[in-house]
Amino acid sequence: MAVVLPPMGWMSWEVFRCNIDCSEDPSNCIGEVLYMEMGDALVQGGYLDAGYKTVSIDDCWEATNRVNGSLVMDPKRFPNGPLALSTYLHERGVNFGIYSDEGRETCEGYPGSGGYEQVDAATFARWGVDYLKYDGCNDVRGYETGYPSMGAALAQTGRNITFSCSWPAYLGDNETEKPYAAIVAAGCALWRNWHDIQCSWDSLVRIIDHWGNYSAALAAVAAPGRFNDPDMLLVGNECITIDEARAQFAIWCIVAAPLIMGNDLRNVSVAARALLLNDEAIAINQDPAVFAGGRLTPFGDTEIWTRPLLSGDLAVALLNKGPSVATMDLNITQVDWKGGSALVRDVFERQDIGTTTHDDVLAFAVAPHDVALLRLSSAPVMMRSPPHKSSFFLRKNSQRYPDNS
Ligand code: GLA
Repeated sequence: MAVVLPPMGWMSWEVFRCNIDCSEDPSNCIGEVLYMEMGDALVQGGYLDAGYKTVSIDDCWEATNRVNGSLVMDPKRFPNGPLALSTYLHERGVNFGIYSDEGRETCEGYPGSGGYEQVDAATFARWGVDYLKYDGCNDVRGYETGYPSMGAALAQTGRNITFSCSWPAYLGDNETEKPYAAIVAAGCALWRNWHDIQCSWDSLVRIIDHWGNYSAALAAVAAPGRFNDPDMLLVGNECITIDEARAQFAIWCIVAAPLIMGNDLRNVSVAARALLLNDEAIAINQDPAVFAGGRLTPFGDTEIWTRPLLSGDLAVALLNKGPSVATMDLNITQVDWKGGSALVRDVFERQDIGTTTHDDVLAFAVAPHDVALLRLSSAPVMMRSPPHKSSFFLRKNSQRYPDNS
């Protein structure tokens, strides 16, 4: 069933993968303790209050065989069973997410739901599942059969289960040729469009570049209750720097992506937590108009990404993918600002920078692998004030920014 705004939560795959060794590694294996601790950390860390609602199990939770035709949790790793886990999370106000696959087997070889849609959907509903990530490994009957079958079965349960589909991720690179109308019709509220994210800047950049190259096509299919999913947030992991984490968070906010954390919530740095909890960035991500933004300028080391917001404000990300500090210019005509002068706010610094007119060019020093995330809003003429942030300066009445397109 559809959710209106991009889902926010936490998922185990990025860090915990298919670690099923609960005797050697009890607090990091795919078992009930991990998800209970993540539920606690979600609450205690303030993530739940910030909007991250769901704790999701990924692959490898199942016993290797069905029992009487039904999926069961591995009894050693989930000794108290699914209902106890789901109740534990629900009692804390946390939603319960789970994973299955439309094929014969999951990607890691556990039983898939292909051919068992009705029984599995009923099982998930009985367990109090709120969110289902439905993968597409080991497809047998074709995605165009498997995904609608599960979508219909979930609807039949009468329970509001957010249906996250991996269908388009299995259809290659060309986003203009993917059957998004059929994916929506199948009941998918969000969909993994493309490759898995890995815990590295290179992998992150590949995904950002894909989103940039296909911004128009991807923006066209996003809407309230319909979200492109570029995959999990790496924020909070040591495999990327805090600047790189900021870059990911900014672009995920611009493109109206689900904010699904793929970290260890028990062990997140102060800076990464502050980033994940930045309410001004989250407000851009969760803007009710759900105009998915995208890359405005051509592919390059430095790029400008924008997202129009319901109020008429504009979110702007100045992204520097290059290896050295870049001075990035911003002119409000270039980002298609419709109003007069604009008040510019730095979202991560939580600071108003000043106002700018169509004749001005703002120049920002953006660190390598970093971003400046700005929110532009209409400024009354009298509010003009000089900028006061050391990392940028204002060039008054300079030449119009050259047309980049
Ligand atoms: C696929 C998905 C990943 C993860 C794994 C689990 O690769 O894209 O996100 O769910 O399967 O096996």
